[in-house]
Amino acid sequence: MSLEEIKKPIAKELKEFDAYFSSSVKGSSSLLNIVTHFILRKKGKQMRPMFVFLTSDMLGGINPRTYTAATLIELLHTATLIHDDVVDESFERRGFFTVNALWKSKVAVLTGDYLLAKGLLLTVKNKDYDMLEIVSRAVRDMSEGELDQIQKTKKLNITEKDYFSIIRMKTASLFSACTECGAMAVTGDKTVMEAMRRFGEAMGIAFQIRDDIFDYQYNGMAGKPMGNDLKEKKLTLPVIYTLSQSSPAERMKLRSAIRRAGKDRRAVREIIDLVNDKRGIDYAVMVMEEYKQKALAILKNFPDNQARHSLMQLAEYAVGRKK
Ligand code: IPE
Ligand code: IPE
Ligand code: MG
Ligand code: MG
Ligand code: MG
Repeated sequence: MSLEEIKKPIAKELKEFDAYFSSSVKGSSSLLNIVTHFILRKKGKQMRPMFVFLTSDMLGGINPRTYTAATLIELLHTATLIHDDVVDESFERRGFFTVNALWKSKVAVLTGDYLLAKGLLLTVKNKDYDMLEIVSRAVRDMSEGELDQIQKTKKLNITEKDYFSIIRMKTASLFSACTECGAMAVTGDKTVMEAMRRFGEAMGIAFQIRDDIFDYQYNGMAGKPMGNDLKEKKLTLPVIYTLSQSSPAERMKLRSAIRRAGKDRRAVREIIDLVNDKRGIDYAVMVMEEYKQKALAILKNFPDNQARHSLMQLAEYAVGRKK
């Protein structure tokens, strides 16, 4: 199912969200407005706001707090993407140039900070301190996860355990904040909030595994460069698994290709071939499906309604998507 189709039942709410998001981004400096104008023109998939809206909807109904949560989270997400492209030295995002490609890192770092502050201020203005706490924790975890990734990336012996710890922190933390805040907007029930937090976390892990697989598969739709992780020597699940399945001689060959990947496109090709030989992608897909199943099992405990149905479709989309 396409994202557009999943969006249909909440189309009205997402339109309102768009307006709210745009107005929250606007600033006063002129350079800032040039950059934010650019950011607003290249919208992402908006999966995180969708998780917030659908969770509130499933549990009782979308209300103003739902909008605050969705906007806050998308602002922080946008900020982290802008920073991520500086960290990853990446020049393509959403099918176009990144902020750092167009204006250099200085502008990207400061614009990211600005969006982060706008998100925090929005929540303070609405006095939603519980939400602020959940989301601030997520941002803290994201930064820690990114730093862990930098540290572990240097050594070419990262384990699966390290990998899951990193993606739980850098990606799943924001997804779990989406569903926890979506729940919090409509209920004070701690068990419900905890269940939805776990749902979001499992979804976030599945989502990042899919993203990491993109780095190995050129489909021309992802809107970001292929092989960028390998270029940075960032080892993700397919290659971690391949290393674990290799003989010492094969491992040496693979590690040597990884060391060259930054400068040599042929080395990237070589790694992809070795990963395919050991069925590294198939393995990652299998693990991703397990996390999705884990997430769906949590949803099954909630009353069956249109929003729950949409959440299930969104879960399927997160693992089946082409971008
Ligand atoms: C990209 O997130 C960053 C990751 C956590 C992998 P999305 O793929 O949701 O980015 P947009 O907002 O749709 O561009
Ligand atoms: C995204 O990881 C992590 C964030 C929390 C921003 P990636 O570095 O893999 O994201 P993309 O592939 O650039 O979107
Ligand atoms: Mg990146
Ligand atoms: Mg990154
Ligand atoms: Mg990626």
